[in-house]
Amino acid sequence: MTSRPAQAYHGSTFGALALSGRRRSLQQPYEKYLPDYVHIPPATPRLDPTGDRALAELDSILENVGPDSISAFFCEPVSAAALPAYSPPTQFWEGLKERARRYGFLICFDEIVSGMGRVGRWLAAHELPLDPDIVTIGKGLGAGYAPLAAVLCRQHVFDAIAGGSREFDLGHTWDGAPLPCAVGLAVLDVIHERRLVERVRERGPRLLDELRASLQGSSIVGEVRGRGFLLGVDLVDPRDGRSFLPDELDAASQVEDIAFGLDLLVSSTHSTQDGYAGDEVLLAPAYTSSDAELGQMVERFATTIASLERKVLQQLGRQPVATARGS
Ligand SMILES: Cc1ncc(COP(=O)(O)O)c(C=O)c1O
Repeated sequence: MTSRPAQAYHGSTFGALALSGRRRSLQQPYEKYLPDYVHIPPATPRLDPTGDRALAELDSILENVGPDSISAFFCEPVSAAALPAYSPPTQFWEGLKERARRYGFLICFDEIVSGMGRVGRWLAAHELPLDPDIVTIGKGLGAGYAPLAAVLCRQHVFDAIAGGSREFDLGHTWDGAPLPCAVGLAVLDVIHERRLVERVRERGPRLLDELRASLQGSSIVGEVRGRGFLLGVDLVDPRDGRSFLPDELDAASQVEDIAFGLDLLVSSTHSTQDGYAGDEVLLAPAYTSSDAELGQMVERFATTIASLERKVLQQLGRQPVATARGS
């Protein structure tokens, strides 16, 4: 495969798995069955803060495989699974838009997590300087109560299908299932009526401030990011306050376990040995959470991190050091 996989996650059916990264932890057993997609390295703040390197890589791929071989570009507009609450710089999106127009490939956004109001907009795409051709939405659409996802597309994509085969040959048992669809419609009504996207947009920045304040001074916390009710915490090595934590500590699993013991559910991404991503924790409260519940989430998470910090320092054979790190 001519790919440079990173931490991206787009699903576990073969097409979606091939779009993902995580070579070692997820793709390896299925590698020979996966389509040969090409990947560009992520434009992360550590590795490529301007997005120039990712665009240069895209140009080199377009040149090497030929623009006619590229039909679509897939990514999360605001990451959830890889680098929670992060989105590459505007320059990257503008460069991508310019190349999509020049070479005629589609831009497809995976908004399974970021869509349906999670970042304080109906779609995270609404925050970016480009309009994707295809968007997938999922989790929030069924509000956790029904298995439901959807593919949205712009008119020209719809017309191409309507004027062509008019169907998708492959399907799943639950495609178009009436009950989950009814749940999805009810979810849309509730989100509208209770102005939940607006609540997430208005409350999100304060929630981020509260989370940052509660983690201030922790020697294992790097960046604390947030967009709406999608929050991400970057864990770092306390010995220099910036490197990824050693892989073998499996800090991500430790966070999940400690938080679970405090009745707090978080999702963590595990560090990759390819050096693209370290341990990251994702917090994604319900849009309907009260201020008191959000406060409890922040408090329990701060307790989790304090406990992890003690363990990590012990595992690294270090004494706690007081550092003041604002993010
Ligand atoms: C960003 C992202 N894309 C795609 C998926 C895959 O969704 P599903 O498990 O419904 O196929 C997930 C699942 O967690 C996800 O987080």
